[in-house]
Amino acid sequence: MSVSLKISGVSKVFEKNVALNNVNLQIRAGEFVCLLGPSGCGKSTLLRLIAGLDRPSDGRIYINDRDVTNLPPARRNFGIMFQSYALFPNLSAFENVAYGLRNKKIKNKDIEERVGRLFEMIKLTNAKDRLPSQMSGGEQQRVALARALATEPDFLLLDEPLSALDAKVRISLRKEICSIQKELGLTTIMVTHDQDEALTMADRIIVMNKAVVMQEGTPEEIYEHPENPFVADFIGSINFIDREKSRVYNLGNYERVAIRPEKIEIERTADKESLRGKIADIEFRGFYNRVSVQVSHVVYGDMVLYVDVPFQAAKEKKFKVGEIVYVNMPKEELLGFESA
Ligand SMILES: Nc1ncnc2c1ncn2[C@@H]1O[C@H](COP(=O)(O)OP(=O)(O)O)[C@@H](O)[C@H]1O
Ligand SMILES: [Mg+2]
Repeated sequence: MSVSLKISGVSKVFEKNVALNNVNLQIRAGEFVCLLGPSGCGKSTLLRLIAGLDRPSDGRIYINDRDVTNLPPARRNFGIMFQSYALFPNLSAFENVAYGLRNKKIKNKDIEERVGRLFEMIKLTNAKDRLPSQMSGGEQQRVALARALATEPDFLLLDEPLSALDAKVRISLRKEICSIQKELGLTTIMVTHDQDEALTMADRIIVMNKAVVMQEGTPEEIYEHPENPFVADFIGSINFIDREKSRVYNLGNYERVAIRPEKIEIERTADKESLRGKIADIEFRGFYNRVSVQVSHVVYGDMVLYVDVPFQAAKEKKFKVGEIVYVNMPKEELLGFESA
């Protein structure tokens, strides 16, 4: 069964250190939610409270509307997986996955069948008898996932499960975790500090900073409509234009406006809205070039704008460092923030 979770006014204080400050969240049954934020913002603490591995200083936690704040971990029925594989080194992959079932005194035949199915799911049937030391990091993490799923949990908690793996393996495992999660319809909370991971995997992202939730929304909402400069800056790249830097420009009520580098247009000819600038740097980034344009303007002041030019356009236009260009920031692409 898949459950909903509710975090209501939860705070956690360690001595003088506030790790979570009045966090409120609702997670629907079957949803894949990522807790995203910089190191130390409280993500793991929140996951541990949901698991019952630690108690909140304040607030309540609900599973399917039932208050579980004081329920021990063993009675919350979740699967969990951490960054380090944490497999038992002296047990085969099979026995690692079967471990939780053996503790439950389930019949051998049923264990064989269930664990066999899990190995099919993680596509490691031929590695069942290997020891963890005989498997790659990615394989060990797949076994850890199967182990987390073995006891048929109501929800799954993942704490930076891919962070220790190299880039290629990480990306293929993203897909695998997502497809298994969707197949099982299992409510899942994954902690990550990696924005790409959150953007590609999550149904919904909870962005955290300094013990509080900064914004929640679908990956598209978070990227297209960041509600504050922190979120705009943490997810994707962004150019900020501050009130104090901009000499006369009317920012309205906004303290800052911002625009993503891929939304800025760059040309060799001026039009009436465009700003004149000089290319200070061009960085090759594979599928796009990041062009730094030094703008000196009566309205916007002096600033460097980052402009992302897609690979094909960059190839055709052949911009050079030192040349004069004109950049245009379409009004509808400007994001306004009332505070810095
Ligand atoms: N057991 C603990 N004792 C004291 N401070 C802790 C403990 N666990 C976490 N913290 C502190 O709480 C804050 C949040 O930590 P954590 O939840 O691990 O962050 P994240 O997972 O986002 O990197 C940090 O400042 C951390 O030092
Ligand atoms: Mg952590």
